[in-house]
Amino acid sequence: MGDVATFESIELLQTLKNITRTLDSSINLKPILMTTAMNMFSHYMCNVRFDAENDEDFKRIVDHFDEIFWEINQGYALDFLPWLQPFYKKHLDKLSNWSSDIRSFILSRIVEQRELDLDIEGPEKDFLDGLLKVLHEDPTVDRNTIIFMLEDFLGGHSSVGNLVMLCLTAVARDPEVGRKIRAELDGLTKGKRPVTLLDRHSLPYTEATVLECLRYASSPIVPHVATENAAISGYGVEKGTIVFINNYELNTSEEYWNEPEKFDPSRFLEKTKVRVRRNSFCDSGMESDGERPSKPAETEKEVWSVKRNIPHFLPFSIGKRTCIGQTLVTTMSFVMFASIMQEFEIGAENLEDLRQKPACVALPKDTYNLFLIPRKH
Ligand code: HEM
Repeated sequence: MGDVATFESIELLQTLKNITRTLDSSINLKPILMTTAMNMFSHYMCNVRFDAENDEDFKRIVDHFDEIFWEINQGYALDFLPWLQPFYKKHLDKLSNWSSDIRSFILSRIVEQRELDLDIEGPEKDFLDGLLKVLHEDPTVDRNTIIFMLEDFLGGHSSVGNLVMLCLTAVARDPEVGRKIRAELDGLTKGKRPVTLLDRHSLPYTEATVLECLRYASSPIVPHVATENAAISGYGVEKGTIVFINNYELNTSEEYWNEPEKFDPSRFLEKTKVRVRRNSFCDSGMESDGERPSKPAETEKEVWSVKRNIPHFLPFSIGKRTCIGQTLVTTMSFVMFASIMQEFEIGAENLEDLRQKPACVALPKDTYNLFLIPRKH
């Protein structure tokens, strides 16, 4: 997963460098992030990637996914009251047209060739192989279900593209955040190598910036239904009761956060002690063969790291139905965001343009531009 994230981020940086070489105005960045995110997902899950600059069908499909992502994040009354469906006919027809275009693309450009080449006996190469094998092995599963699952998982890329756009927006709003991220990146890579997933533990402020964006943007409510009679904090909950996790309250309440309205990635950081090997074998720092212990000496060092398991921070929910895409989201977003930060300074023409809805990770398909200014290493 990490290799794919780095590979696609390097491709993205090349595209962005080509654009900024000839253009000194702001860039319509979002569609570029979205095609990169889709290539990350299709490359990782299906071993297929597309020409993000010249493949018009690919770009159109990525746009459709983004439009759908925006729509499903709006929270219409229809989501809770299905009998309103006739009043939403035009809206539903639009979604249905986008979906069928997406389906034909996925069938013709990803699935059909693989079905012909599938080696039933051989090891699974990727997620798509696994899905197609289930189809062969389990007669109760039909092809439509498999294609639907694949579409759904590939569609997850929209959350990555939108989240990275929100992270870059946060940097454009607050140059101090950008300065701290760049200091962290430069200290580690010296601008001489690409960022990889393995760097995540050494870039806590960068990761914390992604988490702070998620705190502000993650879904306000997560609905569940009690499957049995239960008691929560002394309150009786009858089987069948709808229970909402109120993420909005959890993410914005002063009970849980200092100055919750402030954008501050450092709220996700803590100092921890790590054991490090000392270069030298004896305390004086001068090696002496006679005094050399059997193992090299270790000392404790304090470092910043990202707080894990904050009980009130549940952007991906918790329990049996927790989000199964969370590792993909956090991995891909981190590598893409850090890679862009390594190579560019981020700015906006007018901070007023950077509008985003609270508790919503989606931005409209057509949204504001950002400035990318190449950095000199
Ligand atoms: C910013 C990105 C994302 C956020 C904040 C997010 C958040 C969530 C939340 C809150 C749930 C509900 C869990 C519950 O009912 O308790 C969920 C479920 C789910 N998510 Fe995500 N998600 C994200 C991206 C993704 C991606 C990229 C994928 C797939 C590639 C994905 C796949 C799923 C699936 C399949 C479920 C249903 C799990 C189940 O019901 O067992 N999500 N997600």
